Amino acid sequence: MTDAPAACPEPSDRPDIWPGGATRGTDGALAIGPIRLTHEALGDALGAPLAAGPVIVADRASIRGRAEVWQSAMAEAFWSGYGMAGAQVYYAGKAFLAAELVRDLTSVGLGIDTASLGELTLALRAGADPALVGLHGNAKTDAEIDLALRSGIGRLIIDSIPEIERIAARARELGVCAPLMVRVTTGVHAGGHSFIATAHEDQKFGLSLATGAAREAAERIAATEGVALVGLHSHIGSQIMDLAGFGAAARAVLGLRAELLRKGIEVPEVDLGGGYGVAYTGADAVAPTQKQVADFLAETVREVCTELATDIPRISIEPGRSVIAPAVLTLYRVMATKDVVTQEGTTRRYVAVDGGMSDNIRPVLYDAAYAVALANRAPSGDLISSRVVGKHCESGDILVREALLPADVGPGDELAIPVTGAYGRSMASNYNMAARPGVLALDGEAAHWWLRPETVDDVLSLDAGL
Ligand code: LLP
Repeated sequence: MTDAPAACPEPSDRPDIWPGGATRGTDGALAIGPIRLTHEALGDALGAPLAAGPVIVADRASIRGRAEVWQSAMAEAFWSGYGMAGAQVYYAGKAFLAAELVRDLTSVGLGIDTASLGELTLALRAGADPALVGLHGNAKTDAEIDLALRSGIGRLIIDSIPEIERIAARARELGVCAPLMVRVTTGVHAGGHSFIATAHEDQKFGLSLATGAAREAAERIAATEGVALVGLHSHIGSQIMDLAGFGAAARAVLGLRAELLRKGIEVPEVDLGGGYGVAYTGADAVAPTQKQVADFLAETVREVCTELATDIPRISIEPGRSVIAPAVLTLYRVMATKDVVTQEGTTRRYVAVDGGMSDNIRPVLYDAAYAVALANRAPSGDLISSRVVGKHCESGDILVREALLPADVGPGDELAIPVTGAYGRSMASNYNMAARPGVLALDGEAAHWWLRPETVDDVLSLDAGL
């Protein structure tokens, strides 16, 4: 994380870190389309005042647009007319899921990648085509496996060898054939933080290419009744800006595929995972476009398959963050400000807002940097070095470590933190019995909840003693 204070770029300066419809209107307030980004104006658009606490605002057209661009970029790059076998984009639901989001994404052709009973249940109940739903997990439960097999989802991604027989046994009992992919650990290390880099060897995910575990899993699947090998899978990490790692991983997985083909084992599909990075602040480089990613993957796959003298498999990918993150922002109310003297003897302005680590754990967990902008009026006057902190009982509850905010920011003002669409609400907690914020979808002049805000009663309703 950089500690150099920086003013938040305006939507006109860095459109990539704002929802597609974001502008700063003539009255000085931020807006998405015609709707000003204040709690009051959002309440007006919704038709009911917003309760206390932050609100997560999703620009629906922007999300749909991003999904469509992914879908068409991949379809074009892997078009059969170019000798390819097609492509499929699966949205990684762990980034954020809601039923209406599932419907928006599937209506433009995306599949849904899930990693838990909750995500899988939601995707299916929201109406996703089971054939275009996948299930991940390094510790799948019987309930997850059962739901996956009974609903006929298109792929279960295997993460360990014993899992194969477990799934096969259940599939035989149910009289179905389980479509399995093998998650391959390629040894390629990429990603913004060591917790979110997943393809190096010493971590919990996947089956190693180097030790032969991945090959063994594929061979076992091919030889086991009740399961079918539908593909190989690689996911190397998250928030990756440099495409080279994806190329190296694709090369490794396609190499294993060629080996299996030589042994007569068909591998119709290769999934190259998610992990495509986005910019969060003005200090971040603009991320590669979806078209650049798709073209890069297609070139790599074609080149490697030519070298290996194999056919080209169907390719799938699983972007989460890059579908949704920049199309969503969180709007906080300023509750208090204070000036403190730092250890270096300088003065630092603390700006406390009505949310914090319960709605965005990423700054605390990954040292993730965010930008922050005054939302309800035009920033004016002097900008001073400020730290935006939450309301939780932890001194580490920091949302933005270093920001330049107008010196006159105070209670009554509202702050927007952009790029909160991925791993914000989905990793939210009830720490301090916080009611988790709602996700409000803006659609032209209308606003409606995708996820209604929790109330304290919701939180307390689990307490069996009340
Ligand atoms: N596929 C698999 C198998 C994954 O494990 C993940 C993310 C994705 C796809 C989607 O990755 P994306 O395109 O969103 O980078 N909580 C962390 C990120 C954890 C990612 C976990 N797996 C964060 O907030 O940065």
